[in-house]
Amino acid sequence: MKIISRVEELRALIHELKLQGKSVGLVPTMGYLHEGHLSLIREAKAQQDVVVASIFVNPLQFGANEDFAVYPRDLERDSQLAADAGLDIIFAPSVEEMYPQGFENMITFVDLIHITDKLCGAARPGHFRGVATVVTKLFNLVCPDAAYFGQKDAQQVIVIKRMVVDLNMNINIVTVPIVREADGLAMSSRNVYLSPEQRQAALVLNQSLRKAAALLDNGERDCTKLKQAIEQMIGAEPLADIEYIAICDTSTLENLAKIENKALIALAVKFGNTRLIDNIIWEG
Ligand code: PAF
Repeated sequence: MKIISRVEELRALIHELKLQGKSVGLVPTMGYLHEGHLSLIREAKAQQDVVVASIFVNPLQFGANEDFAVYPRDLERDSQLAADAGLDIIFAPSVEEMYPQGFENMITFVDLIHITDKLCGAARPGHFRGVATVVTKLFNLVCPDAAYFGQKDAQQVIVIKRMVVDLNMNINIVTVPIVREADGLAMSSRNVYLSPEQRQAALVLNQSLRKAAALLDNGERDCTKLKQAIEQMIGAEPLADIEYIAICDTSTLENLAKIENKALIALAVKFGNTRLIDNIIWEG
């Protein structure tokens, strides 16, 4: 497995691979890899000749009071895990390499409207602009045939899929299911911030989503009632602080009053300073 930190070296290697007729898959990550990321790498490996994973904690997608400075980073550990999963290339640039003019001085952005000011975007203004911009830069550098994203970041997947359509990017966006711990907690690099008590309390995310799915399976379609059931369950957990509970359309993210046959149920909940997200897509 190669580890590349310079843009020019990456470009040269990609050029060579394309000349050889190889298909290329991209797995964009911010590192501190867990089983969720590794499932993206394995899926990409099953479909493409060569797989590149980017490891880059992107300052452009963090708000001023967010965890950019303390976000967990461990390239050595990531390299070992990625190599074991069969990855071919890690692209791990510095902030200066990705933003040679300084990320604070950027004047060109990829900005999607409507779907980015809801759910996570409502509490994190500018977040999806940062994501869409860095993902576009990575797409331009790696020229992948397909890029792989985890369903855990449901809104991010919707944003990237829409960006690719709107901007005619010739890249297949593949969504890979959420990977959960044995007790149901969705895997996240941010889980390391949780105290043992918060880690236990955080199980309520998956439990409340499962409760909503069970109600739906039993015929409940009223989103106010479904939200109330979720809110009651999470509200009973003293360490949990609800940021949002959304039941919405799976492509526009518009709130639904009643579920016809498909909906995204998404949550963001804080445990202390740690903000966790989780979701399910229910289909009847
Ligand atoms: O999902 C993430 O880890 C990030 O948002 C991404 C897609 C790597 C962009 O920085």
